[in-house]
Amino acid sequence: MTSETNLPLPPIVLDHPLIRHKLTHLRRKETSTAGFRRLTRELSLLMCYEATRDLPLEPVEITTPLETMQGEQLAGPDVCFISILRAGNGLLDGMLDLVPFAPVGHVGLYRDPDSLEAVEYYLKLPTQIASRRCIVVDPMLATGHSAAAALTRLKEEGAKRLLFVCLLSTPEGIACLQKAHPDVPIMTCSIDRGLDDHGYIRPGLGDAGDRLFSTR
Ligand code: URA
Repeated sequence: MTSETNLPLPPIVLDHPLIRHKLTHLRRKETSTAGFRRLTRELSLLMCYEATRDLPLEPVEITTPLETMQGEQLAGPDVCFISILRAGNGLLDGMLDLVPFAPVGHVGLYRDPDSLEAVEYYLKLPTQIASRRCIVVDPMLATGHSAAAALTRLKEEGAKRLLFVCLLSTPEGIACLQKAHPDVPIMTCSIDRGLDDHGYIRPGLGDAGDRLFSTR
């Protein structure tokens, strides 16, 4: 999942029928908080399955009730998840259902209203970040500015093998992220039409953080 050139890889759009079905129900305004959380967990589990497709394995000898055999296990330490606060946390449960031993980092950024620069308010990362596959999660790739700033911070901390995973994205967000980080593949369940004047993804699903945490 890495590019041999400086050209960005095309975004990977996950279009499995289960993902399409669940995403449709996630988008519906009638979906309750409980339903939204359940669907997000299920979708993130399915995304994690794809995002971990090429993790390295190592041989391991095991004994079944009948005989000894050569099995395989994940070669570690490898994968970690990095949540972009706060909505990224909504994708962690499903991912950790599949990879329960993975360390988890958090990046918190807000946009300074005057300078419009991304300002970091929280950063806590796993050890050995430079040698890990870092799956960076945020449900909504809208303008791409905060995702690009988060990836820049992670690279400053030594991360080299990054993958960005989101539920919904926009052409603008993808272009922004690819321009800033052409080496980072983007995995998404949908490329929506675009952004409205308030920075919302259209047709979108509304504010992912508010729907996950039942806030306004
Ligand atoms: N963040 C959200 O939660 N929703 C959007 O539509 C855009 C950014």
